[in-house]
Amino acid sequence: MHPYYITTPIYYVNDRPHIGHCYTTLLADVAARFQRLLRGSGVGGKGGSENGDRGEGGVFLLTGTDEHAEKVVSSAHEHGVTPIEWADRNAAAFRAAFEFMGFGYEDFIRTTERRHIDKVLEYVRRLQKHGDIYLGDYTGWWDASQEEYVTESVAKEAGYNSPVTGKPLVKRTEKNYFFRLSAYAARLEEHIAKHPAFIQPEARRNEVLGRLRAGLQDVPVSRAVTGDEASRWGILMPDDPSHRIYVWIDALFNYLSAVDTPGREGLWPPAVHVMAKDILWFHAVIWPCMLMALGRELPGMVYAHSYWVREGRKMSKTLGNFVDLPTLRAYAERYSVDAVRWYMLTQGPLGITDADFSHAKFVEVYNADLANGIGNCTSRVSALITKSFGGIVPDPGEFRVLADHDWPTIARNAVLGESAVSNDGVPMLLNRFDLAGAVAEGVNLVRCVDAYLSETTPWKLAKEVEKENRENPDHLQRLAAILYHCAEALRIASILLAPAMPGKMAELWTRWGCTPAAGATLEDLAVWQGEHSLKPGERLEQGGGSGAAPLFMRADVKEGAPVVG
Ligand code: MSP
Repeated sequence: MHPYYITTPIYYVNDRPHIGHCYTTLLADVAARFQRLLRGSGVGGKGGSENGDRGEGGVFLLTGTDEHAEKVVSSAHEHGVTPIEWADRNAAAFRAAFEFMGFGYEDFIRTTERRHIDKVLEYVRRLQKHGDIYLGDYTGWWDASQEEYVTESVAKEAGYNSPVTGKPLVKRTEKNYFFRLSAYAARLEEHIAKHPAFIQPEARRNEVLGRLRAGLQDVPVSRAVTGDEASRWGILMPDDPSHRIYVWIDALFNYLSAVDTPGREGLWPPAVHVMAKDILWFHAVIWPCMLMALGRELPGMVYAHSYWVREGRKMSKTLGNFVDLPTLRAYAERYSVDAVRWYMLTQGPLGITDADFSHAKFVEVYNADLANGIGNCTSRVSALITKSFGGIVPDPGEFRVLADHDWPTIARNAVLGESAVSNDGVPMLLNRFDLAGAVAEGVNLVRCVDAYLSETTPWKLAKEVEKENRENPDHLQRLAAILYHCAEALRIASILLAPAMPGKMAELWTRWGCTPAAGATLEDLAVWQGEHSLKPGERLEQGGGSGAAPLFMRADVKEGAPVVG
């Protein structure tokens, strides 16, 4: 299998981490966990830290921080520290946020690191040598609040104010180094046409194509160095200290600089660059053209999700309504980190519509999917096995309880295709980056167990079996089969849910003694009554407990949002 290299944007080190940064990184974390599972290199991956240099089984997640923005300098001074001290402090805050969210990554790159700076200089030199970077004049509308130029049409549309912050734009002329973007437009269009999956989702691809067809102009890749410190904060152009490499160009190179080093060569190109729609143009147009100029292969997919908004309103500094880390921590304290991951993953803006973070919705989803779903279902089955079989996994024999109910096929289809949710199966869903679709297969399997329980009513059968002093072998055998089927189906469901909820599923596996063996792939693990299945005769609840301790306590719908302390 080809290595799977996935990246998140590198986040501005000036911001405090919030749900938006955590969401994109969560998507990358869940995708990486699924890919490790496909490759048999573990379901977990270490949470919240670096997994190791090479990437387990060829899965490599890169995240990090973008530190050369001018704002870093002013903020640092406002806080009475040097820019690098300020960057250190905030980069640490991002790492801490990701640790708390249980994200595992192979590398965390910071653009102030020597390994990055040296590579950027090397790339820029190469582009200059080939004439892809040249010196020229630039006049345009400068958005100081975003540190970027906006095109005439965008400026006009926004009334010559920043389309993002609403602050006035200023007309600026400067000597600049330019990247010959125009020379690559036709090749890029061709690439996009040939590779429908290159820009996703589909609607975003069409937006990019529309803009591309309007024509591409060369883009400035440097900023003039003036007297002040902020203008020098960054990487100076090779052999020209009067210019600094534009922070966006510096930042985009991180995806390459991190792995363009001995031992990591095989990782290129990335399978997916994940981000939100705000920065798609840089990733779907400018970056691929730079890669073409460098003679590098293009990433397999550039995936742009939409935005989180809060209780129906855009999150912004002015409104001060970010779902920030303290808020996420408060939710995690009450409902568990995995519940926060679950809500974000399944209700988030993966597609082309924005998603609302609402307390009412959180509680509804938590109760439906987790407390009353996988949580309740595992406790019920475990309690019944404890009651009727002393906590020992019963032997299902060859018994088919419902004539038309073929569990081995149902389970296999949930994982590999033709399930009620999709015809593609998890590997294909992952190829399309449909992570919510992939975990939905797990949810659906839990629903199948619920429906099976209602239809077969093992609790009634258990009473009968008791009454008959366990002397009716037909009833006993039937009960054993039902409960085994439920437990085994839940085991397989838990594997599909684990990339989203690694902590809770690991807890279940410890209890049930079914922690996936090292080296087992998703396909191996999904085999019904196979090598990795629950074994009749073994104790289900390893702790020997009551068997009914819920994984997720039911949430009180009347309780308000957790208070942020
Ligand atoms: N530093 C640049 C990226 C350079 S990548 C070579 C940058 N940084 S950022 O800190 O502003 O991060 C932007 C990204 O954060 C978005 O693309 C998205 O991944 C995430 N989000 C920020 N706000 C968001 C929401 N409200 N909702 C969802 N994700 C959002 O841009």
